[in-house]
Amino acid sequence: MAKGHRTMTRLRGENLTLAYDERTVASTLDVSVPDGSFTVIVGPNACGKSTLLKALARMLKPTEGTVYLDGAAIASYRSKEVARRLGLLPQTSISPNGITVGELVARGRYPHQKLFRQWSPEDEAVVAESMRKTGVDDLTDRLVDELSGGQRQRVWLAMVLAQQTSILLLDEPTTFLDIAHQHEVLDLCADLHEDGAHTLVAVLHDLNQACRYATHLIVMKPGEGIAAEGDPVRIMTAELVEDAFGLPCRVVDDPETGTPLIVPLKRQR
Ligand SMILES: Nc1ncnc2c1ncn2[C@@H]1O[C@H](COP(=O)(O)OP(=O)(O)OP(=O)(O)O)[C@@H](O)[C@H]1O
Ligand SMILES: [Mg+2]
Repeated sequence: MAKGHRTMTRLRGENLTLAYDERTVASTLDVSVPDGSFTVIVGPNACGKSTLLKALARMLKPTEGTVYLDGAAIASYRSKEVARRLGLLPQTSISPNGITVGELVARGRYPHQKLFRQWSPEDEAVVAESMRKTGVDDLTDRLVDELSGGQRQRVWLAMVLAQQTSILLLDEPTTFLDIAHQHEVLDLCADLHEDGAHTLVAVLHDLNQACRYATHLIVMKPGEGIAAEGDPVRIMTAELVEDAFGLPCRVVDDPETGTPLIVPLKRQR
């Protein structure tokens, strides 16, 4: 995206330095999430993908720079206001002990509760719909602690959907899922993106899925922040994969979609 358009996007970070105490993960990082996009972030382990997502969701305060949401510094909002606009699915989530699936998903409605308006039929309907979309509606009364990794991942996603935010930040939403469920979740994201009312940002490890689904791809590289960004068809090359991941590969057309398909070179003996 051209620099001049940066100020127009709902969610962006300017000149960010992201650090944990003494460890700096990224500096002078500019990131802009195109409105209405399905933005996918890829990059090697520990390059700072989750850290960036946390900063964009105000879960981590940048040491320098500012994250802007709808034209104002995200730090200036009340937390319920951020939660009504932006939902985050963290890479790892810890559920409260003894909570059921239905109770956990219902917590997604918290930002919408007001002092004198408690639980409503609308809340109930949104929770049911979110559980149906993620295929966890038959798990309502099960304890979250007792679910499989993939079931649990879909329950957390249902909770974020129940929040009904127009911006969704999803950190590895396909982890623990079998290939069919991975595509189901990505299709769900694509549907949300296509309805025009949502902006999605997802961290994925599967480059081929990233190229299939992303309308805007951000490739991160350790110590460098963003190595490339744009339309995956335009930016994904063997050189980029080798540069960011150190993996020699070929890039061919996905026979199903025509998007880039990354094929690692065979092992040299
Ligand atoms: N809470 C923390 N305290 C200190 N250092 C952290 C913390 N979380 C992450 N880091 C460090 O920050 C760097 C970036 O971590 P981050 O979790 O953002 O990586 P990532 O790109 O999401 O990796 P992965 O693909 O493994 O999820 C790593 O070196 C990591 O060790
Ligand atoms: Mg991560």
